Amino acid sequence: MMSARIPELTAFTAPVEQPVANRDLVSARDFSPEETQALYQVTHIIKHRPADFRGALAGKQLVLFFEKASLRTRLTFESGMASLGGTSLFVDQTQSRLGLREPVKDIARNVERWVHGVVLRTYEHSTITEMADNAGIPVINALSDLEHPCQAYADFFTLQEKFGDLRQVHTAYVGDGNNVAHSLMLVAAALGTSIAVATPEGYEPDAEIVATAKKIARTTGSIIDITNDPKRAVTGANAIYTDVWASMGQEAEAEERKKIFAPYQVNNELFSLAAPEAFFMHCLPAHRGEEVTADVMDSPCSIVFDQAENRMHVQKAILLMLLGSGMSRPIRSNHA
Ligand code: CP
Ligand code: NVA
Repeated sequence: MMSARIPELTAFTAPVEQPVANRDLVSARDFSPEETQALYQVTHIIKHRPADFRGALAGKQLVLFFEKASLRTRLTFESGMASLGGTSLFVDQTQSRLGLREPVKDIARNVERWVHGVVLRTYEHSTITEMADNAGIPVINALSDLEHPCQAYADFFTLQEKFGDLRQVHTAYVGDGNNVAHSLMLVAAALGTSIAVATPEGYEPDAEIVATAKKIARTTGSIIDITNDPKRAVTGANAIYTDVWASMGQEAEAEERKKIFAPYQVNNELFSLAAPEAFFMHCLPAHRGEEVTADVMDSPCSIVFDQAENRMHVQKAILLMLLGSGMSRPIRSNHA
């Protein structure tokens, strides 16, 4: 019997020289204005021709580590990945934060050898940056205490569907200067659309993020207005957006925040100051009777479920852009 020819061992052991195409989405500032426009073009095609992308990520695997609860983000990533032909693995971290059992950098150095991308929902934003710094595969922020970029991309995509040219649109965000507000400002700046953020004193958005958003805005024509006056923010607005007053991890402050944020409730009186046919927006979950009244939340002007639907289309485009290049991580030794 003829023996099969055994290839040179070096063919299996030599390091592979590869360009590193690895890109992360840790912050909404990670995509340039041009890349944000490209993301929306891809999203539009994926949304309207989903069958064309059924095998686009075949053979790719995504791991999701979530320290906090989720309905929309988890299901849209899992469903989106499946509809692209890929697989996702969910790791419930709600009982034990990442980094407690072993350092985040060691988790990164493990998972990069098994899967093609990591999606993280965390308390500390630094958990996501540490994963991104140490994993040679794309890392995606699925919400941290600082940012929620996937949400903001879906939200402005939704407004683009409604209005067409976002440069003519003014959005007002009313409530806590939180993770959602931060990513909305950064995406608005990238898209050249204007946003006013109205918060109580002491709950303003992060100064460094505001400065970054304003810097980007100067190049795109966007106007970013930070105020404590909800009426000023919403007057003439084409969309009024709010979020919960106490985010995940702030439950102990919820009662105190209800009093502080009461003047920032989105109700019919506040809504009457907006432009005719303005939309109501919310990332969900919503608390009717707190940050928004039921009549606004459930009115025909509410587009909250369009936003939720677009989470999936935008995230499919993000997955395609970050995982679909066909380039894998550089092979490195144990100590590299
Ligand atoms: N909006 C949003 O991120 O929803 P989940 O918390 O349910 O994922
Ligand atoms: N700001 C909220 C958003 C939830 C999607 C939170 O962090 O809990």
